[in-house]
Amino acid sequence: MSNSLNDFLNHKLEVLEKADLKRELQYYEIKNKKIIDFCSNDYLGLSQEKSLIEAAHQSALEFGIGAGASRLISGNTRLHEELEFQIASFKGTQKALIFNSGYDANIGTIAALMSKPDIIYSDEFNHSSILSGIKLSGADYYNYEHLCLKSAQEKIQSTRSQYRNALLISESIFSMDGDMADLKGLINLAEKYNCWLMIDEAHSTGLFAENGAGLIKSLGLENCIPIQMGTCSKAFGCQGAYIAGNKLLIDFLIQRAKTFIYSTALSPAICGALLQSLKLIQTQSWRREKLFKNADKIKELCKKLDYEIISENSQIICLKMTDNKTALKAAEFLLNCGIFIQAIRPPTVKKARLRITSSAIYENDQINQLANGLADLRKVLK
Ligand SMILES: Cc1ncc(COP(=O)(O)O)c(C=O)c1O
Repeated sequence: MSNSLNDFLNHKLEVLEKADLKRELQYYEIKNKKIIDFCSNDYLGLSQEKSLIEAAHQSALEFGIGAGASRLISGNTRLHEELEFQIASFKGTQKALIFNSGYDANIGTIAALMSKPDIIYSDEFNHSSILSGIKLSGADYYNYEHLCLKSAQEKIQSTRSQYRNALLISESIFSMDGDMADLKGLINLAEKYNCWLMIDEAHSTGLFAENGAGLIKSLGLENCIPIQMGTCSKAFGCQGAYIAGNKLLIDFLIQRAKTFIYSTALSPAICGALLQSLKLIQTQSWRREKLFKNADKIKELCKKLDYEIISENSQIICLKMTDNKTALKAAEFLLNCGIFIQAIRPPTVKKARLRITSSAIYENDQINQLANGLADLRKVLK
């Protein structure tokens, strides 16, 4: 076996290429409207909202484009603290803490809270950042069957007593399937077996509850879930993430979450945009209504065309593909119809699919273009 780095890299890349699993970076000039993006997580269309861009501009003029240091050194500003205050009030928790990304929030929080001899029970479809946090923590872990409380309960029942602390963790809306966790069932399990409960609301923040605070709030469960995570990169249209919970949790994370402590603070420009985004999320409920109306239209047309949809619970609409090659070909075909939908393949998911996301920005003519593209694709796939 050769020791050369290039040989190693070539070999690994060839294996991926042969399995139709090699990723390529792509970008399309969406703004010229020739290609419509149907796979972004910009659910409410806020990434292009003028008032957010202006808020970012104003904040950068006042505070600078970069924070210059981590929050605990000199990167903390009034905007960071205002944002945390507003997010806590939005979520109905005592406090919130901002991280630079959802990935950072998950790995930093899980690794700060858990270690040996603890155990973590995690839905098998949880996001990669959750799994990375679990591995980094050094705690033992068990991936229970996706959405299956029975599978989680069996494992918890048989193992909980062997460990010191336990964490039960799930997404609320699953990013790559679009299905919904049974939050009440998870709360009951956590209470019964003395587990801490953490819920990742990356794909429900901004979309559910009257004020857009997420699925937890829409079910009135904000006081039953001690560790609530969400991203500011999806419905918020910007970047960053939060952990919301009680004062003790946030005080502890400030001391122990390494991705918070040792990383330069989020840009003040982004904090300013996020404050504006939060205002719009809470006041412009028409965005949520339009997003779900569009989601219904997309589901309807996919069903009419006989596509197999993985779940109908949310704004994420995934169409099953038979294999990786077919998924790639389908994505390429749609691109030629002016429709950008990524083929999602392993290891992100177990089985290949086309992941369509609804958004408040789609107009009827764009959905009609999607319908025509999917109808033509159907003929090719048959
Ligand atoms: C469920 C879930 N959690 C966390 C993340 C990470 O968030 P971010 O993109 O802000 O790093 C994502 C992003 O795709 C996600 O889907």
